[in-house]
Amino acid sequence: MSEPIRFLFRGELRELRDAPPTQTILQHLREDLRCTGTKEGCAEGDCGACTVVVGSLEQGELALKAVNACIQFTPTLDGKALFTVEDLAGSDGALHPVQQALVECHGSQCGFCTPGFAMSLWGMYLKQEGRAPQRCEIDDALSGNLCRCTGYRPIIDAARRMVELPAVAFDKAALAERLQGLQRAHGFSYTAHGQRFHVPRTLDELVKLRVEYPTAVLLAGSTDVGLWVTKQMRALGDVIYLGQVEALKTVREHAGMLEIGAGVSLQDAYAALCARYPAELSELWQRFASLPIRNAGTLGGNVANGSPIGDSMPWMIALGSQVVLNGFEGMRALALEDFYLGYQQKDLRAGEFVQAMRVPLPAGGLRFRTYKLAKRFDQDISAVCAAFAVTLDGETVLDARIAFGGMAATPQRASQAEAALRGQAWSEATLRAAMDALARDYAPLSDARASSGYRLRAAQNLLRRFWLETRPVDPLPASAVNAFASL
Ligand code: FAD
Ligand code: FES
Ligand code: FES
Repeated sequence: MSEPIRFLFRGELRELRDAPPTQTILQHLREDLRCTGTKEGCAEGDCGACTVVVGSLEQGELALKAVNACIQFTPTLDGKALFTVEDLAGSDGALHPVQQALVECHGSQCGFCTPGFAMSLWGMYLKQEGRAPQRCEIDDALSGNLCRCTGYRPIIDAARRMVELPAVAFDKAALAERLQGLQRAHGFSYTAHGQRFHVPRTLDELVKLRVEYPTAVLLAGSTDVGLWVTKQMRALGDVIYLGQVEALKTVREHAGMLEIGAGVSLQDAYAALCARYPAELSELWQRFASLPIRNAGTLGGNVANGSPIGDSMPWMIALGSQVVLNGFEGMRALALEDFYLGYQQKDLRAGEFVQAMRVPLPAGGLRFRTYKLAKRFDQDISAVCAAFAVTLDGETVLDARIAFGGMAATPQRASQAEAALRGQAWSEATLRAAMDALARDYAPLSDARASSGYRLRAAQNLLRRFWLETRPVDPLPASAVNAFASL
C-alpha cells in the first residue's frame, strides 16, 4: 500500500489513503468531508466560488495563497495546510473581520459567491497585516471572483472596512513550524484506484521518474490540466507532479539573462519580470488570468502548454528568450520560437521536461511593449496578444522582433514585418510598410473570440500604437494610448 497524503485541516493532521489521484480538492471537501461552505460554480477556475487558501513552505518560507479548489487535485495538498470559509469564524462563533465587513457593507445577496469572496479577502487580510489596502490591491485580490447580484462596490467597501475592525491574529510562525514537520526528505508515490501520483522532490528523482513513466502526465499548477479532468472528463493515468521540486522554483540572474525555474508561479515569475521591465510587462501581469490562477499556475506550464493564445510566449519570443529542457540525455537550451513546431506540437523529446526559461535583461536602445486584447480586463483569454521589441540606434531600427499570439497555430514571429523595419528610419512611412507586411505574415482564423479581419486589423493597429509610444519625436505617454493607464 502507498504512503498516505498528509495535510493540515482544521488544525488537525489529515491522512488520505483512498482519494482518487485526480479527485479535486473541491470534490474532497464537498463529497467526502461534507464541508459545503466552499461552492462549485464553473469547475474551471473562472468564477472563484470555490476559492480556498493553501498554506505551504516555499524555499523554507510560509506562503498563504488563494487558489481555485475546483481544479487542484487532492494529492497536491501533501505537506500543506488547507483553509476554507468554515475556518474564518472564531470557535465562539464570532465573525472574522472579513465576514463582519461583508455583513456591515451589504456585500452579499444570494450569497453563492460570498464564501469565495471571503477567502480571497482573507488571503489579502493576512498579507495586509492591518495596512489599509489600495484600490488596485483590492481589484487584484478579487480579480478571480464573480458576483452576479450584489455588485462590486459593497464588496470593495468591505475590503476597506475589514482592516478597520478589531484585528484577529493568525499565528504564521506556528503554522510554518507544523508544516516543517510534515515535509518529506524524499519524493513519494501515492497510489489509489489503480492510478499513481508521483511527487518527486529533486531534479534527479524527476529525471528518473520521467524515464520510468515516459507517458505520465506532467502536472505543475494544474490550471490547464485540471480542466482536462473537470471539463473534458479525461482519465489522466499516471501523473508526475512538479510542485514539490524545489530546484524548479528558483529565479536568478545569469549571463545577462533572468533565469526562471519552470515551477515558479506565474505571480512570482511576473513579479521578478516586472522588477526588470515595469513599464512593459506590468499591465500584462495584472491582466493574466486572476490572482488565484497566477498563484497556482506556472510560467513553465504556460510555455510547455504552448497555447496559440497564451500570453507569455509572444513577449518572451520578441525578447529572444530561451527554453531550457532537461531529461535523461542531459540539458539543452533552444530559442523559444523553435520550441513550437505546429499546433499542439513541441520540440519536447520523450523523457524531457521544461526546466527553466531564460529572459534577456533590458539592454540599451531597446523599445519593448506587449499588448493584450480581450473582452474583459481581468480573467480573460486573449483574442490577440502582441509583442514588439525594436532596438534603435538614434532614429534607425537596428533590429526588430515581433511576435503574436492569436494570429496563427502557434505563437509566431512576423518575419516580413520585421524585415520591413530593419535598417529603416523609425518613421511613419516605415511603420506603414510594416503594417502592410503584417498582412503577409498572418492569415488568422475566425472563432468565438474574434474574426479573422478583426484580428489582422487589430494587429496592425497595435503596431501603430507601439510606434506612437516609441517614435523618436513626440512619443505619446501611456495615458494617451491606454484607457486603463489612469486606473
Ligand atoms: P499545468 O496545467 O500544470 O500544465 C499545462 C501543460 O504543460 C500540461 O501539458 C503539462 O503536462 C505541461 N507542463 C507543465 N509543466 C511542465 C514542465 N515543466 N515541463 C514539461 N511540461 C510541463 N493563460 C494565459 O496565457 N493567459 C491568461 O489570461 C489565462 N487565463 C486563464 C484563466 C483561467 C480561469 C484558467 C483556468 C486558465 C488560464 N490560462 C491563461 C491558462 C493557464 O493558466 C496557463 O497556461 C498556465 O500558465 C498553465 O500553467 P500550469 O502550471 O497551471 O500548467
Ligand atoms: Fe468556479 Fe472553481 S467553481 S472557479
Ligand atoms: Fe449572488 Fe454574488 S451575491 S452571486
